[in-house]
Amino acid sequence: MSTLTRSPAWQALATQQKKIAAAGLAELFAADPARAGRFTLEAAGILLDYSKHRADAETMRLLVALAAQAQVPQWIAKMFAGDPINGTEARPALHVALRSRDAVFPAGRDVMTEVRATRERLRRFVGEAHGGALRGASGRAITDVVNIGIGGSDLGPRMLTRALRRFHKPGPRLHFVRNIDPADLDAALAGLAPETTLFIVASKTFTTAETLENAGRARAWLEATLGKTADLSRHFAAVTANLAGAAALGVPQERVFPLWDWVGGRYSVWSAVGLPVAFAVGMDAFEELLDGAHSMDEHFRTAPLERNLPTVLALLGIWYVNFFGAQTRAVIPYCEDLRELPAYLQQLEMESNGKRVDRGGNEVDYDTAPVVWGASGTPSQHSFHQLLHQGTRIVPVDFVVAQEPRPSAAQTGLAANALAQAAALAFGNPAPGAPHKALPGNRPSSTLLLRRLAPRELGALIAMYEHKVFVEGIIWNLNSFDQWGVEHGKTLAHTLVPRLLGSGEAADLDSSTRALLERLRKRD
Ligand code: F6P
Repeated sequence: MSTLTRSPAWQALATQQKKIAAAGLAELFAADPARAGRFTLEAAGILLDYSKHRADAETMRLLVALAAQAQVPQWIAKMFAGDPINGTEARPALHVALRSRDAVFPAGRDVMTEVRATRERLRRFVGEAHGGALRGASGRAITDVVNIGIGGSDLGPRMLTRALRRFHKPGPRLHFVRNIDPADLDAALAGLAPETTLFIVASKTFTTAETLENAGRARAWLEATLGKTADLSRHFAAVTANLAGAAALGVPQERVFPLWDWVGGRYSVWSAVGLPVAFAVGMDAFEELLDGAHSMDEHFRTAPLERNLPTVLALLGIWYVNFFGAQTRAVIPYCEDLRELPAYLQQLEMESNGKRVDRGGNEVDYDTAPVVWGASGTPSQHSFHQLLHQGTRIVPVDFVVAQEPRPSAAQTGLAANALAQAAALAFGNPAPGAPHKALPGNRPSSTLLLRRLAPRELGALIAMYEHKVFVEGIIWNLNSFDQWGVEHGKTLAHTLVPRLLGSGEAADLDSSTRALLERLRKRD
């Protein structure tokens, strides 16, 4: 048994689970008329109602004890101090610096000078685009911007650009390309004019095959119309920590925006990786997003564990994964503009904590990150909610709802559906004599209410999830900031390309891969 599963806090929770499993949510509510208020937290424009969880005050006390045992406050302090908490890569995880308001941060290793300088460069660049001063090789103004990137260099900007649709300013249209499948770039470029198109090549490493392939194809597309002698550098910008890589693609130095090794890809939307968002909403709104994230950082850094919104969410995550055996968690934004949020959180949570070896290199004997999935409500109700209500699995849900200052009838219907789903999951519906119609209830969910769907609240929401993932990682004793698991597949794919082209030897491959490869080689 690991130190964690043997620990007093863990054992106490295992005992507590048996007590709670016998009680229904309806009983927990009946036993405590003030439960809804008691199990609600608010910070940085986000309200979390966690009353519909299978937990009582004693459960929360024990979960907080687990966090204290894992030294969560000390780890939070280490992150904000810029300690190298990404142990396998000997780096700090300092994404909080990207939204810091401090003149010097962190103490002893100031990164703010370069952060601020980059933000100023972004402001000028975005201003040029909105002022029509951003021009292509032929002198015509840029009308379309295509972000080429994948993973953290795609999911954040894509999600936020859509989420902030109502804040878009007149300016270039935004497009996103990530897949090495040429269909992705082809579809994005259909209808665009090379003369008026700018590509942002976003890649922290500038070695990612998908991104480099698409950047090469984009260049060829420009060349085919504008000619080899045109100044194609006017059609590119780059965001990267690999300045030499961007230069090799021909991106002029003044169009290369830096990233740093202390920013993880999936934590990078606050950096120049967020350039498409800034193009869409303007730099002022982008900075409001950063401010919202900073407010959540401050809450996370200073609030006591039991009132700490990301920590409470993390503890509930652990409660279900480790004590109820939940294998998945659904994220259902009742907000079409947040439809990309589940995909964003998939990378954030599954790439951060989808690990089976602890910080000391030992295999763990407890489950770690669940499968995160979801889709926007209400369409999700007509797709997978049947399983949520009547299936055999426990699937905790995060319902994300945005308040509307003056909701239309349709928006009222949207909110009503969100509340109805959470209540139906929690309290079920008996159907005497018709078991097929009965909803058993007792199915947990959080409701996250955003003051409104605006830059500040979105910044706070995303920062909240980042910190939730961090706290889970601390308790599971994981390094949440590396992703070694994805490397081997990249190497294998690299070795298979020449063999698919017919030139490489296939004898060393397993029989399944070899047979599929041979089938793919036959081009008739
Ligand atoms: O392969 C996984 C990954 O390294 C992610 O962590 C990262 O967000 C993505 O690839 C893209 O990496 P890059 O920004 O270096 O192209």
